Amino acid sequence: MVEHAVETRGLSKTFRTRHGVRTAVDGLDLLVPATGVHGFLGPNGSGKTTTIRLLLGLARASAGEMRVLGRPVPQELPDVIGRVGAVVESPKFSPTFTGRQNLDLLARAGGLPRTRVDRALEQVGMSERAGDRYQAYSLGMKQRLAIAATLLKDPALLVLDEPTNGLDPAGIREIRELVRSLGEGGVAVLVSSHILAEVQQVCTSASIVGRGRLLAQGPVESLLGASTTYRVRVADPAAARAVLERAGWTVRPEPAAPGSTGSTGSTGSTAGALVVDPGPEPAHRVAQVLGEAGLWPDELTPLRPDLESVFLDLTAEHGLAGGAR
Ligand SMILES: Nc1ncnc2c1ncn2[C@@H]1O[C@H](COP(=O)(O)OP(=O)(O)OP(=O)(O)O)[C@@H](O)[C@H]1O
Ligand SMILES: [Mg+2]
Repeated sequence: MVEHAVETRGLSKTFRTRHGVRTAVDGLDLLVPATGVHGFLGPNGSGKTTTIRLLLGLARASAGEMRVLGRPVPQELPDVIGRVGAVVESPKFSPTFTGRQNLDLLARAGGLPRTRVDRALEQVGMSERAGDRYQAYSLGMKQRLAIAATLLKDPALLVLDEPTNGLDPAGIREIRELVRSLGEGGVAVLVSSHILAEVQQVCTSASIVGRGRLLAQGPVESLLGASTTYRVRVADPAAARAVLERAGWTVRPEPAAPGSTGSTGSTGSTAGALVVDPGPEPAHRVAQVLGEAGLWPDELTPLRPDLESVFLDLTAEHGLAGGAR
């Protein structure tokens, strides 16, 4: 078995536009392990879709090398594409056919046994609704059918470009659980997302990109291990921020909780909360520095590190503007 499902070296892609040359992918060295779920994470426009299109032979690289399932692509793509399932653009299903009829057609076109259709429907939890017309499906069901279609050929690598785009929280959870179960079933899954917190829950490894460049890569635990942060709530966040920054620490306002409509989460108001990374210093040093400035904290909570904080720290470090959404 190959060590990496995907391996790129110095991968670059530039586009000529009316405004000049735009670099979408910039010397990317991507390593996707042969097992598990790999999150391909970065904000909008960071080059995720372009990279995926290059890997699948849908666009031509400007420079660099790529291997998929151990084989150089695009040269040997015809030999590996049969073991790669991908959902990149919205797939073209017939709206008046049922989900099962659509998959039957695809299986027949691909010379695959019909038993694969039942298995794929089961894998994505669509067996019960397989007799309904495609046009009657919810967005989440359509997405699950698209994934079922890629499972027909029993892929060793599954590539999903933002599979939860446009789904509601329940739909997002369903796709997340599906991705998790596929990864546990031995398929290497490469899943892109601009919402880092969403993918963190299922991926075993991740690559974080910004403006087409690789910012960090590796097992999720090691990516998260780099930062220990605290939520600090004080009456005067602006003054506290200045004091904490003077101590040499990284400080940023706490982002709104995912799914919350404002700055008030279900656990109470976090308005004005700061997130501070005191490096190796313990929590009581943060309290001490604030106290010495007369800014006694109302709250000082260690935060479970998340990929979004890692990403924000990395983009700040690399001087890249823009958030993770
Ligand atoms: N065909 C094209 N012609 C010109 N520029 C392009 C083309 N395709 C992509 N780009 C540019 O390349 C950059 C990367 O785009 P890409 O779609 O790969 O980002 P992304 O990470 O997938 O973003 P998102 O999270 O919004 O899907 C963007 O600046 C985009 O405008
Ligand atoms: Mg994209």
